[in-house]
Amino acid sequence: MIVEQQQNPQFTDQAERLRRMVRSTQRTARVLAITSGKGGVGKTNVAANLSLCLSAAGKEVILLDADLGLANLDIILPVNSHTNLSQVISGRKRLQDIIQTGPGGVRMICGGSGLTQLADLDDFQRRQIIQDMSTLELQSDIIIIDTAAGISKNVLGFCQASDHTLVVTTPEPTSITDAYAMIKILTQSHTHAKISLLVNMAQNRTQAKNIYQRIAVVTRKFLAVPLYDAGYILHDEHLPQAVSKRKPVVLAYPHSSSSCCFMALAQKLARVQKNKTVQEGFFRKISNWLF
Ligand SMILES: Nc1ncnc2c1ncn2[C@@H]1O[C@H](COP(=O)(O)OP(=O)(O)OP(=O)(O)O)[C@@H](O)[C@H]1O
Ligand SMILES: [Mg+2]
Repeated sequence: MIVEQQQNPQFTDQAERLRRMVRSTQRTARVLAITSGKGGVGKTNVAANLSLCLSAAGKEVILLDADLGLANLDIILPVNSHTNLSQVISGRKRLQDIIQTGPGGVRMICGGSGLTQLADLDDFQRRQIIQDMSTLELQSDIIIIDTAAGISKNVLGFCQASDHTLVVTTPEPTSITDAYAMIKILTQSHTHAKISLLVNMAQNRTQAKNIYQRIAVVTRKFLAVPLYDAGYILHDEHLPQAVSKRKPVVLAYPHSSSSCCFMALAQKLARVQKNKTVQEGFFRKISNWLF
């Protein structure tokens, strides 16, 4: 049937007309995957806080928890975690049917925890989810994917499907080594995505810049690809305090040092012009959510 439709010139014309119409009238989302070599470096917090900042700036954001098997985004952005990707894998629902609206208007897709069938997706299931994601691109400005740590087929699949991969590291030597290993695998797996480095838990700007320079130099020399600088998030005690309150730091402590860094990162990624009015707008909107 599908083959017949594809060969039918009338159908091909219609499909091409529809594609042209969609291209001219709809937004096509940018897909940003957030990943790391080492675990526990702050990916989930980056994904949640960045999504909230972009949403506050007026962007339509869809946040996908793709840390399959150990999903935990819903801990800091509370939604009903029973509605999750396992329903898509079992064929009971489509991806667009399990989107929920979380805090700050961020639309979320929960991953589903403790389910081995999610942790070990086969190639067909992985392709199915990634294909389904293309339907979401028409409904949003940006799709942010929170992946698991380390190199696995699931993580590589999501990174390959993205336009931009943000590799997160901390200043710890082991985390830096693992970030480079991740960048190496990403470039060798023929991903066309732009790769950026984000230094989380940085002591200061200089420390973060030095780490970026060191990794960027070896990436250029040995992998022959550019590594973009996404900047840094300062080490901030407000962040674990917010997590223990089950809130993202930009909502719990909007004026904290890490919240300022998340806003700067969102501005950089959204290419929002950096000026005082925008910065104040961010603060005002985020503060408003608290009351
Ligand atoms: N900028 C920061 N300042 C201080 N602590 C931080 C910062 N970022 C993250 N943390 C701490 O690190 C913990 C782990 O963060 P998070 O769960 O986001 O990491 P992850 O990379 O998603 O972990 P996993 O690999 O297990 O998915 C947080 O609960 C918080 O306590
Ligand atoms: Mg995580």
